[in-house]
Amino acid sequence: MPLFDPSPGYHRIKVVKSFHELVTTPFGDGVNALCWQRTLQGNFSEVVEHLDVRDGITTLDEARLNALPLSAAGKAAVEILLEDQKLLRTVGLSPILDCIHAYPRDDDRVSTDVYSFHADSATVEADTYLCSYNEASSEGLRNDEALRRIDVPETRAELLEIFSGDDDDDFLEFLKENCYDLHYASVPQARPFSFGLGNLWRIAVDYPGSPVPPCIHRAPETVPGRPARLLLIS
Ligand SMILES: [Fe+2]
Repeated sequence: MPLFDPSPGYHRIKVVKSFHELVTTPFGDGVNALCWQRTLQGNFSEVVEHLDVRDGITTLDEARLNALPLSAAGKAAVEILLEDQKLLRTVGLSPILDCIHAYPRDDDRVSTDVYSFHADSATVEADTYLCSYNEASSEGLRNDEALRRIDVPETRAELLEIFSGDDDDDFLEFLKENCYDLHYASVPQARPFSFGLGNLWRIAVDYPGSPVPPCIHRAPETVPGRPARLLLIS
């Protein structure tokens, strides 16, 4: 999957040069994603190797990271992992660092897990911050190449079948309650893009009164045998 490329007229992603710019630039004029592009030094794979996480999701704390017997390059990676969290805390956020082998998958006929393109949502103004450090990164879908899954006739028919009621308001409530309204399908010619490793992103979420449409994204596919990945999220 190609790395995001904001150059050819795609106006929704803005690349910024500093953490300060990342947190202070308002979303607007259609821009719904800010990317602090970075090339990080340090051996993040070594950190994952020593964590020896076999499945699921493990949230990492400072003590666990500092206790790992690492080389200088591994230690440099830990320093960055801790520093990023510290930066986000300075602006009042509560970042979490996860070591992820695989997310839970839902077996529903219309999937709403994080492997499906979706928008994050909130009841009040909020953003999502994301950084992938190794292996695979989050993936994005351009808004003009996305269709809400509930607007795809076949999917809507399927959801109506699952709902099995006949009241329109109740159906809308059912879509909301189950987050079906937050998931997207890509159009046939869509060009999903990778968020890239090391880049810290701030993306727009769906909340009442948001000046921009939400940034549509998903987790990368889990590949059996591939090492776990480190993800910072807030
Ligand atoms: Fe998300």
